[in-house]
Amino acid sequence: MYGIIASSVLFATASAVVTNYTSVVDPTNIKLPDIPQTTASTFQAACAWTAPPVPIAASDWPTSWQPATSNGMNGTAEFQALYNSIDWTHAPQITPRTLSSPGVLNTAGYDLVNDPDCWWTATRCVTPKNSQVLKDIFACEEPETLGLTYDDGPNCTHDGFYDFLQQQNLKASMFYIGSNVYDWPYQAQRGVKDGHHIAVHTWSHPMITTMDNQNVLAELYYATKMIKHITGLTPLYWRPPLGDIDDRVRWIATQLNLTAIIWNLDTNDWAAGTTVTVEQVQQNYKNFVSMGANGTFANRGNIILSHELNNLTMSVAESFIPQFKQAYKHVVDVATCMNITNPYVENSVTFPVFTSSAATSGGSGPSGPSGSSGTSGSSSVASSIHINTALIVAALIACLFQV
Ligand SMILES: *[C@@H]1O[C@H](CO)[C@@H](O)[C@H](O)[C@H]1NC(C)=O
Ligand SMILES: *[C@@H]1O[C@H](CO)[C@@H](O)[C@H](O)[C@H]1NC(C)=O
Ligand SMILES: *[C@@H]1O[C@H](CO)[C@@H](O)[C@H](O)[C@H]1NC(C)=O
Ligand SMILES: *[C@@H]1O[C@H](CO)[C@@H](O)[C@H](O)[C@H]1NC(C)=O
Ligand SMILES: *[C@@H]1O[C@H](CO)[C@@H](O)[C@H](O)[C@H]1NC(C)=O
Ligand SMILES: *[C@@H]1O[C@H](CO)[C@@H](O)[C@H](O)[C@H]1NC(C)=O
Ligand SMILES: *[C@@H]1O[C@H](CO)[C@@H](O)[C@H](O)[C@H]1NC(C)=O
Repeated sequence: MYGIIASSVLFATASAVVTNYTSVVDPTNIKLPDIPQTTASTFQAACAWTAPPVPIAASDWPTSWQPATSNGMNGTAEFQALYNSIDWTHAPQITPRTLSSPGVLNTAGYDLVNDPDCWWTATRCVTPKNSQVLKDIFACEEPETLGLTYDDGPNCTHDGFYDFLQQQNLKASMFYIGSNVYDWPYQAQRGVKDGHHIAVHTWSHPMITTMDNQNVLAELYYATKMIKHITGLTPLYWRPPLGDIDDRVRWIATQLNLTAIIWNLDTNDWAAGTTVTVEQVQQNYKNFVSMGANGTFANRGNIILSHELNNLTMSVAESFIPQFKQAYKHVVDVATCMNITNPYVENSVTFPVFTSSAATSGGSGPSGPSGSSGTSGSSSVASSIHINTALIVAALIACLFQV
């Protein structure tokens, strides 16, 4: 009840926001040319520069790998209109966080007991305190189900890995960095063509709770806009880099209709060879295999954090995926395990409702969106009410099962 009331308030607020996402790309009919990016399974050969599939005028976008307000973006009429269309008087009054040393958030002085801002970095909180924000998803609700997710793509080096996922008949949730879509547009298009669930991972991968409201908005807006520009799809889901989210950031994401997807198992693969050893990462994977087989997820599944960052993260993933498929009943993307049939604003690409046959672990049943073959133009007419219901259900479930 409470969740439903909160959600109607929420959508009344969100609908006032003005966005300007446009694209000439038909996501159901992506044709990748026969260039190395789309076919190479070796790493180096894949990274030759090729003109983008649709024009990208540098003056219209933030600078790659710089904050999304760069290149004068926050001074543009478009961004000003967006910013001013938001009623900031309702935004949580939370001061941007600081770093205690490079890359380390300063949690000193934060009230860890009451956790007033539901700051994940400090407490792993996933149930917002603010009633007007979309609630995080952090575990697949379906039992014996592994939620497969990869952060930080697309990258010129990922084609061998995407070939592997295709051979395994697996779909994953892919959290794309706007700057990487800018740099590697064909690789982003391939993610859509292969039927993966594409979501937003900010423009420049900052610790976003350290940013002011304008920069948070710009990180989400320009990353979403770039994904739409290149793939024709506007994601409704996102993941904060390093899980760094609090109610202020959630509130801003909510203005753009973006729901956060966190995780409840972390491979720590990105740190392999730096703060952890490769063996420790492999041990994490082994534990997640055991947990799949030993009943840990008998009542409720998981979401596993991993990365398509480099050869090491992708090759470790490849070496354990066959064991995941043995240990779990279902290995699927997060849209599928959560019955999010419409993970995009556009209704032209939809995902199946979770049923045993729709979500096989590499079995013969259909397991992707209708657009996954790249040729199907079938348009599902799922309404926005359908989307809202899924969100409300997800929010209520998240409430009930807080970890
Ligand atoms: C958010 O969703 C609502 C309801 O579906 C819609 O009216 C509104 O235009 C959307 N806002 C944005 C910024 O996409
Ligand atoms: C744009 O963002 C930069 C960095 O946050 C800031 O210094 C500048 O004042 C902003 N410009 C406008 C017009 O808001
Ligand atoms: C919206 O985007 C289109 C196409 O990129 C552009 O021509 C138009 O000026 C933009 N509108 C605003 C208000 O920025
Ligand atoms: C399942 O496996 C995990 C990882 O090895 C272990 O930590 C956990 O205790 C096991 N649970 C049961 C019920 O055996
Ligand atoms: C892309 O992949 C290369 C090679 O694995 C890696 O070194 C690089 O860090 C990746 N780039 C980004 C931006 O993720
Ligand atoms: C990628 O990693 C695998 C497994 O460690 C290794 O066999 C392969 O040579 C690596 N490829 C490159 C291009 O580094
Ligand atoms: C997904 O939908 C199916 C069919 O209606 C239902 O059996 C299942 O419980 C739903 N799962 C979730 C997580 O909503």
